[in-house]
Amino acid sequence: MQRIAIIGTGYVGLVTAVGFAELGNNVIGVEKDKEKLDLLKKGFPPFYEPRLEELLKKNFENGRIKFSDSVKEGVEKSDIIFICVGTPPLEDGSADLSQISVVSKEIAEHLNGWKLIVEKSTVPVMTSQWIKRTIKLYSKKEENFEIASNPEFLREGSALKDFFHPDRIVIGVESDRAKDILLNLYKDFDCPIVVTDINTAEIIKHASNSFLAMKISFINMISDLCEKTGADIEKVAYGVGLDKRIGIQFLKAGLGYGGSCFPKDVRAFFKIGEIHGLHFGLLKETHKINEQRIERLMEKVKSALWLPKGKVIGILGVAFKPNTDDVREAPSLKVIETLRREGAILKIHDPKAIPNVKKIIEEDKNLKYVNSPYEACEGAEALIIVTEWDEYRGLDLKKVKELMKTPIIIDGRNIFNPEEVTSLGFEYYCMGRGNYLKRKD
Ligand code: UGA
Repeated sequence: MQRIAIIGTGYVGLVTAVGFAELGNNVIGVEKDKEKLDLLKKGFPPFYEPRLEELLKKNFENGRIKFSDSVKEGVEKSDIIFICVGTPPLEDGSADLSQISVVSKEIAEHLNGWKLIVEKSTVPVMTSQWIKRTIKLYSKKEENFEIASNPEFLREGSALKDFFHPDRIVIGVESDRAKDILLNLYKDFDCPIVVTDINTAEIIKHASNSFLAMKISFINMISDLCEKTGADIEKVAYGVGLDKRIGIQFLKAGLGYGGSCFPKDVRAFFKIGEIHGLHFGLLKETHKINEQRIERLMEKVKSALWLPKGKVIGILGVAFKPNTDDVREAPSLKVIETLRREGAILKIHDPKAIPNVKKIIEEDKNLKYVNSPYEACEGAEALIIVTEWDEYRGLDLKKVKELMKTPIIIDGRNIFNPEEVTSLGFEYYCMGRGNYLKRKD
């Protein structure tokens, strides 16, 4: 059993805190945001993530996890301190490390005995070296700590599953003492554990996210070619992905990547290259292709509806991916804003993310949030699938057709079987499957 502090209880921090508590450790989560802290102190998570509420409640009730707004308390009552605060993008794409810098100073002021300080937020290479220098500079007593890097690879929507069953664990350390502590902390995991120096660990994280984003943009680029030539991107991706050197995962073409990680990390990694005199042009192109996905969708909308102005459009899905209520950098935001500018009348559904999107885009006479996907179909002249929730895959398409004014589906995530949809009498626009349409020209 270890005494652990987790500073910052966002997605990574809270899931890590609950995960370590579930493994039998004593955890203090430190959170500055009062609204979030109030919920956490009652044992409720501030965001939706499968199994999170259940495991938080369990460990809250058995006393293995508690929450505080005080870095001092977290530092003083623990031996291992994980830094999990946000590293949002700055205007120029580089990572804003100000929260890390503030936390490092605070940790320095409250060190009481030897601590292992572990950087878990996604950060540019060399950040941990800055954390070390900051703590040394601001520490009142003789320095009594070590730093380490332990990047997190969990995905929203399957975060706890990913925490307990990762493909690998990466540990960047400067001594055997730090290495042994972290290996002991992860002793129950049966995946490979990669032990490296700290800079290497930091680069592994940024390189992994950038590579995955690049894979998505690559398949989206090929998807456009499929569309022009009547080929089928789903089959191309399958045929390509069966090569074990390539792999089938992250070859899903559609509206591109969103969320709080890929868009930010691709740009930040590009910036790091620049700082070191290197041109990561691959990543610039990755970002550009991703930005173009919304244009591709809008081309389909216009091809289907001619002018969106005054037309009723149902939008299914606003979360950046299924099984989360997160809308940060979600493609839906751009789709909604673009259609609104064009004067469309929108009826928007999402199973979980409506409260979050409402904070960004308010309802008005031309934009309504609705409680069921069928409500979004009522009187609609087109239906756009933006997020591939399972609930939408299982829709009764006959009912959908009856409810719609004109049966047009624009499927940004290729969730439907084109033959089935078109045989029911829909015009079906999808991504990179050029043969399917059945237009009434
Ligand atoms: C991503 C990484 O997958 C995690 O390993 C990492 O820990 C995390 O970022 C992070 O740095 O914190 P996440 O953003 O939660 O996780 O979700 P993903 O499942 O990776 O999806 C990212 C985006 O890519 C979503 O918008 C998704 O719709 C899109 N995507 C994914 C595709 O368009 N095609 C695909 O084939 C896969």
